[in-house]
Amino acid sequence: MKVLLVGSGGREHALAWKIKQSRHCTHLFCAPGNAGISKLATCVPIKADDIEELVKFAHDMRVELTVVGPEAPLAAGIVDRFQQEALPVFGPTRAAAQLEASKSFAKTIMRKKNVPTAQAKRVHDAESAIAALAEFKPPYVIKADGLAAGKGVTIAPTRQEAEQAIREAMVDRVFGEAGSLVLLEEFLDGEELSIFGLSDGRKVLPMVPAQDHKRIFDRDQGPNTGGMGAYSPVPQAPAGIIEETVRRVMCPVVEGMAEQGTPYKGVLYAGLVMTTEGIKVIEFNCRFGDPETQVVLPRLQEDLLLLMLECIGTGLRSDRLAFTDDAAVCVVASSGGYPGPYKNGYPITGLDEAEKGGALVFHAGTKASDGTVLTAGGRVLNVIGRGKDLAGAAGQAYAALDKLSFEGMHYRRDIASRALNREGGST
Ligand code: AMP
Ligand code: GLY
Repeated sequence: MKVLLVGSGGREHALAWKIKQSRHCTHLFCAPGNAGISKLATCVPIKADDIEELVKFAHDMRVELTVVGPEAPLAAGIVDRFQQEALPVFGPTRAAAQLEASKSFAKTIMRKKNVPTAQAKRVHDAESAIAALAEFKPPYVIKADGLAAGKGVTIAPTRQEAEQAIREAMVDRVFGEAGSLVLLEEFLDGEELSIFGLSDGRKVLPMVPAQDHKRIFDRDQGPNTGGMGAYSPVPQAPAGIIEETVRRVMCPVVEGMAEQGTPYKGVLYAGLVMTTEGIKVIEFNCRFGDPETQVVLPRLQEDLLLLMLECIGTGLRSDRLAFTDDAAVCVVASSGGYPGPYKNGYPITGLDEAEKGGALVFHAGTKASDGTVLTAGGRVLNVIGRGKDLAGAAGQAYAALDKLSFEGMHYRRDIASRALNREGGST
C-alpha cells in the first residue's frame, strides 16, 4: 500500500517510523518532510496546507492512504476534500476538527455530554470580558477561541494582567481572528496528562498516557513552547485513569459528535488535568500530540497502518491496544533563542553516533543540504531513550544528547524528573 504522510515535524518522523514498520506499507511519501524523514520516505516539496497540490499528488501517485499530522490542514478541511475525490484519508473532517479549532465548540459539546472540564464563559468584546473577570478567581485563564499555534492561552496571576491579556487578544488582535471570541476559564490546578484515543466514529481505543513539558527551561521556568520533552508511562497518574478517560471523556464526546451528524474519525487527543476532584479536560486536539507521539508510538505493539485503515473503513476490530511495559523519554533539542527569534542553517553533528546506544533520533526542524544536516526550525531534534524504567530511558536519551551538537543547541535536563523524583527512579 502506498501511503502519504502530511507534515514535517518530530511527530511526523515518529509516525513515518511506525508506519514504515507495517508490512502493508510498500511505499511512503511525506509532504514536505525533513532530513530525518527523508531516510524513511520519499519527501515531496508540497506544503502541509497546500490541499489542492496534495490532492493532485495523491491522484497522480495512486496513494492508497493519506495520514495528516498537523491540525491546520485538518481545520481547513483536507479530509473533506480528499473524501470528495474518493481518496482514503485518516483524520477528522473539518466539522469534527472543530473540537480543536474552536474552544467554544469543544465546551458546548462537553457541557452537553457532561464531560468534566473547567467552568468557562464566552465573551465577544473586551468590555464584557473585563467585567466578567469578577466571576472568576485568580489566576485568570484567558483563551482565544480559534487556532493560535498553542499561544492563545494566557494565565494571568492578577486582575491587571488579565485585563491586559484581554485587550491584546480582543483589541490589538495579537492572535488575529482567533481573538474575536474569548473564553474566560476557571484555573485547573494539577499535573497535566495527554491521552490519545483512536476513534472510528463510534468506538474509541485509548493509548498509554504521556506527559509533555511546555516551558523552555528546567523546573518549568520561562515561556511556553511547542513542547520540550515528554515521557510515558506517567506513574503518578492514578490507577484506572485510562478507563476513566474513555468512560467520562472520550466515549461521550465521540457519541455526541455522532449524534450531531459530525462523526469523529481519527485521533482524539485529550489534554487533561489531574485535579483533586478527578480528571478534567483542558483541551482537545484533533491529531497526535507533539512530542507525546514520540514516546507513545515506540511503546505501541500494533500495526498502526492497519488501525488507521480500520478507523476510516470497517471499524476498529479489537477491544484494546497492546503496549510494551517499557518506558520512553523524549528530550527536545531546540535552537538558541527559541521560542523567541532564532537562526537556522547550523550544521548538526553526531547524528549517527547518537543512535548507537539504542536511542532514536527523530528530526523536527532539519534540512538536508549537500550531505550535511542543517537546523531548520525552533525545535530541531527529538532524542528518545527507551528502557525498563523511566530512569533507564532518560539515561539513554541524555547519553545520546551528549553526542549531538549544533550552534546554540538547548535542551532541558529535567525531562521526566517529576515522575522520577516521586518514584525514586522506578516506574
Ligand atoms: P490549551 O491551548 O487549551 O492547550 O492551553 C495551553 C496550556 O495552558 C495548557 O496546556 C495548560 O498548561 C494551560 N491551561 C489552559 N487552560 C487552563 C486552565 N483552565 N487551567 C490551568 N491551566 C490551563
Ligand atoms: N503537546 C501538545 C500538543 O501537541 O498540542
